[in-house]
Amino acid sequence: MPAFRSSMTVLLLSFAMLFSALAPALAQDGPPSATVESDRSATGGATTLEDILRRQEGLKVDNAFRRQNTGAGDDAPPVSDQLGTLGGASDPDLWRGVRFNDADISTQIRGPAAEVLIQDRGMWWLQFREGPLLTYGGWLLVGTIVLLALFYLLRGRIRIDGEKTGRTIERFKTVERFGHWLLAGSFILLGLTGLVSLMGRKFLIPAFGHEPYSAIATWSKWIHNNVAWAFIIGLVMVFVMWVVHNLPDRTDVKWLAQAGGLFGNGHPPAKKFNAGQKLIFWSTIVLGGSIAVSGVSLLFPFEFPLFAKTFGWLNASGLPELAGLGTLPETLSPQEEMQFAQLWHAIVSFVLMAIILAHIYIGSIGMEGAFDAMGSGDVEEQWAREHHSLWVDEVKSREAAAPGRTTPAE
Ligand code: HEM
Repeated sequence: MPAFRSSMTVLLLSFAMLFSALAPALAQDGPPSATVESDRSATGGATTLEDILRRQEGLKVDNAFRRQNTGAGDDAPPVSDQLGTLGGASDPDLWRGVRFNDADISTQIRGPAAEVLIQDRGMWWLQFREGPLLTYGGWLLVGTIVLLALFYLLRGRIRIDGEKTGRTIERFKTVERFGHWLLAGSFILLGLTGLVSLMGRKFLIPAFGHEPYSAIATWSKWIHNNVAWAFIIGLVMVFVMWVVHNLPDRTDVKWLAQAGGLFGNGHPPAKKFNAGQKLIFWSTIVLGGSIAVSGVSLLFPFEFPLFAKTFGWLNASGLPELAGLGTLPETLSPQEEMQFAQLWHAIVSFVLMAIILAHIYIGSIGMEGAFDAMGSGDVEEQWAREHHSLWVDEVKSREAAAPGRTTPAE
């Protein structure tokens, strides 16, 4: 009996998962329409694909046919059939109640998700995650790397144009470099382990086999869940230390108009951070903050639902209508909340990873003299004059005002 019940559950679950993929991702329940009789001979009188699709579209399905198949009558499929019953003991009403969430059931697990025993809106998410998310996300990263490689081949390394002075200026204090490397190190670990979670089944299982991948995935998940805190601390440190230097001002307009002097020979004036760096800073803060919030929501499943409320605000603003998305669903099951949190977390991470790849390039091989700023903390004065002339002037005038003091890294 218990074995039968569990196999029925599995069967129902598989049906629900398999066919719900065909439902549009954000479809709201539509108005009930006239009941349509299905031909159920192919399933021995059981639910058909048509029934499931209609139910997922929010259309009315007459479930009366299921009551005829309780096993009490001669029409009951034999137990030897794939969809056979165990006679009257198959408890179809109970399972139907479980399926439609109206059975009077108590579980040992507590929490919001325990109230939903079978959720049939997961398949579109599973397929989106395994399909477009993985494919487009992967190509975004590969495309960014290819573009950076092309840029390197065409433009070469950005050299220090003038004569090197042999003198250095302190650019970042130890605590600033610590904050940066905490953020950078944790982000790289999170990016790699996140990619393992998303793409491991597709690429690592064929390469290494199931057993080794199981160990890799377990470690990967452990690292991802725990290193998240270092990322959050690094993000807060970087924000607090650098926000004043990243407020937009007039110098940014000129810098952007000249594309930072990337393609010409000139060097537009810049303070401590130029407009390009300010864009990197705010991308890191805004996108990194959003990744952190959705990550915490994933780390404590069902405790911090974010999306039903957000969708409500968005609907009220009229933006989804304008974008042609219709009305976003404002009632979500706890599982659907997690689905959206996972997708958001992954999509925003891909975007930030692409941006950070460009940052890593320019902070290392892309520009002579840049890495020292985060390596030793001291940069060649000529490099500083070329890329941050206004900042050098500030530092020099402060030094002149207080001779003998070490150069403050502000
Ligand atoms: C190996 C990886 C990395 C290298 C080599 C690197 C290098 C650098 C360097 C040299 C600077 C200072 C630039 C200057 O003196 O003006 C810098 C700044 C910065 N880094 Fe990184 N970084 C790396 C990874 C990361 C990551 C993963 C993040 C964020 C998740 C990040 C966020 C920032 C931010 C916000 C700044 C300040 C704004 C800017 O200069 O663009 N870095 N990085």
